[in-house]
Amino acid sequence: MPAFMEPFRIKTIEPIPFPTAEERQSALVDAGYNLFRVPARRIMIDLLTDSGTSAMSAAQWSALLAGDESYAGASSFERFESVVRDLTGYQEVIPVHQGRAAERILLGSLLKPGDVSVSNTHFDTTRASVESAGATPVDLPAGDTEASSPFGGNIDLDALHDYLAGSQGRRVRCVVLTITNNAGGGQPVSFANVEGARRLCDEYGAMLLLDASRFAENAFLITEREDELADRSPRDVAEMIFALADGCWASLKKDGLANIGGLIALADTDLARRCREQLIAVEGFPTYGGLAGRDLDALARGLMEVTDTKYLRYRAETAQWLGDQLTKAGLPVLQPTGCHAVYIDAAALLPHIPPHELPATALANELYRAGAVRVSELGTLVFGRVNPDGGHDVAAPRELVRFALPRRVYTKSHLEYVVETAATVAGNASTIVGYRIVDQAETLRHFSAVLKPLG
Ligand code: F0G
Repeated sequence: MPAFMEPFRIKTIEPIPFPTAEERQSALVDAGYNLFRVPARRIMIDLLTDSGTSAMSAAQWSALLAGDESYAGASSFERFESVVRDLTGYQEVIPVHQGRAAERILLGSLLKPGDVSVSNTHFDTTRASVESAGATPVDLPAGDTEASSPFGGNIDLDALHDYLAGSQGRRVRCVVLTITNNAGGGQPVSFANVEGARRLCDEYGAMLLLDASRFAENAFLITEREDELADRSPRDVAEMIFALADGCWASLKKDGLANIGGLIALADTDLARRCREQLIAVEGFPTYGGLAGRDLDALARGLMEVTDTKYLRYRAETAQWLGDQLTKAGLPVLQPTGCHAVYIDAAALLPHIPPHELPATALANELYRAGAVRVSELGTLVFGRVNPDGGHDVAAPRELVRFALPRRVYTKSHLEYVVETAATVAGNASTIVGYRIVDQAETLRHFSAVLKPLG
């Protein structure tokens, strides 16, 4: 198969908007220079997220019609449950409407005030659920993506050992491996790292849980980067990883290849019973969990399609190609690329903009202004904090911009256009100005903040 060829043909199409330069400029002003507030009809290529943005296959669309909308005991649930059990090996399968509902229910049922959850990196919604249970999230990432590690998503096993053996060790209720590590640059966790975490969990009596939202992409990258597993299929590797853990949750808006959905899957019957009690209160009856029967059928089919090697290779090669082209266009790309996104170091491209003037936001907004391309900022707007002593915001550790890749949606020519747009922006980098925040919410400020350009 040629490198980076879409392993599918297109059956249904949706026109994309072509906003003019004036429309883009007025959309930015109307949105308070916050791309979350720009209506999708003003976006040409939308790389804001890979979540809930997948194109479904013909088989998934036909599975929708088989959806059983019975309130209790729907056959759609039986099909979903059987696919998840086959894949994960966990017998307790609980559907939910999206990933954060799974986190809230599972971590809320598991964690008690004073407990600790240790992770390679808690995704921000995971962190919020740990904290709302009165527990403390601790991140111990091993990887430094700038050091080009093939497994930049790993947890630091020495630090995990020290933590478990230390004075706080007895408080650790669970170790969470986010595969792939989205907040840590979308990098994979190696099989050896999961085995190491399993051993430490056994030794110190903690539960090992997976945030498996991108489990298939993680499994594929293992087959590419971990010599011992080079001749296994992504599906085999995924099954082996699930077998090492005690349970998982997932946002199925990613590797479920559908537009909504999530799950909790566990070996522990008692914990699953407690989760189902919560589920009924906040999501729905245990055989639909906030989803329509048809969603469960589309997801069951998506979970079977997503481990296809040809699809996963195309996905990884797409990210690599985009990363290489953006590098040639003059953008500092984090290497190696993973599958779901390409990350740019905005601080390196815009050294004249200090963190409190939001360089990553400035870059994202310029990409929109230049070509109606929408990406997301993962810098001080998202991860920074208002300084309690007044003064400049406490800066995020890094100023990243994420070009997320919706699954099976954009073709190579769309991405060529993205590269052209990025090249124009990079060529004008020294003229780009920073921003100040004029209005912000107390939590999750990036979704609604209103900004003003400086200068
Ligand atoms: N875990 C990970 C690793 C995620 O990336 C996300 C969402 C969630 C949990 C929460 O799932 O959105 O279904 O409630 N990530 C999205 C993103 C929002 O753009 O990366 P959700």
